[in-house]
Amino acid sequence: MRVVAFNGSPRKKGNTYHCIRIVLDVLAREGIETEFIQLGGSDIRPCRACYKCFEKKNGKCVQKDGFNLLMERMVAAEGIVIGSPTYFANVTPEVKALIDRAGLVAIANGHLLRRKVGAAVIAVRRAGGTHVYSSINYFFGINHMIVPGSSYWNLGVGLDPGDVLKDSEGVGTLRDLGENMAWVMEKLYG
Ligand SMILES: Cc1cc2nc3c(=O)[nH]c(=O)nc-3n(C[C@H](O)[C@H](O)[C@H](O)COP(=O)(O)O)c2cc1C
Repeated sequence: MRVVAFNGSPRKKGNTYHCIRIVLDVLAREGIETEFIQLGGSDIRPCRACYKCFEKKNGKCVQKDGFNLLMERMVAAEGIVIGSPTYFANVTPEVKALIDRAGLVAIANGHLLRRKVGAAVIAVRRAGGTHVYSSINYFFGINHMIVPGSSYWNLGVGLDPGDVLKDSEGVGTLRDLGENMAWVMEKLYG
């Protein structure tokens, strides 16, 4: 069993990174293989609505920017973690590009992400994080994915890199998320 995680923040070792790490560490402890991909700061382009993925039906996007490698990693995994900082109460542009393109390619090809386990992980300074959480969960929901809960919505609170580690409730929420994700994956794929 494998989980692939995407850090949608351009800050490579920022709060989103730390939030994702907490979840991945629990998953690894539970015997699940983990893979971490730095998405923020990459040159991933937005969906251009050409609908070529529906014409070609080859599991790929026609744009040539490395997205297809990310799609492959998603398809190969049983679990997907998408992490984003809160940017004006929404996901970062890189995360939006990933979910738009992966969502369209998956649906065009007979729901490639069906019954994979999905978790959104959010870093937020003060407000708007639940909207980011919702945006990512909409993606999971329309793709036949299974979403585990936690003891709160999956948010870590902090401004500067590493601040989220001082948010003990957030750290606990993310650990609980990792445990629930591992539990669901064991039931589905163990
Ligand atoms: C462009 C931009 C917009 C932001 N918008 C919000 C916001 O709407 N609400 C909020 O609480 N924090 C906001 N923040 C703060 C970040 O969400 C916060 O610092 C977060 O911990 C950053 O995560 P990172 O270290 O992984 O990048 C914003 C930061 C930036 C750079």
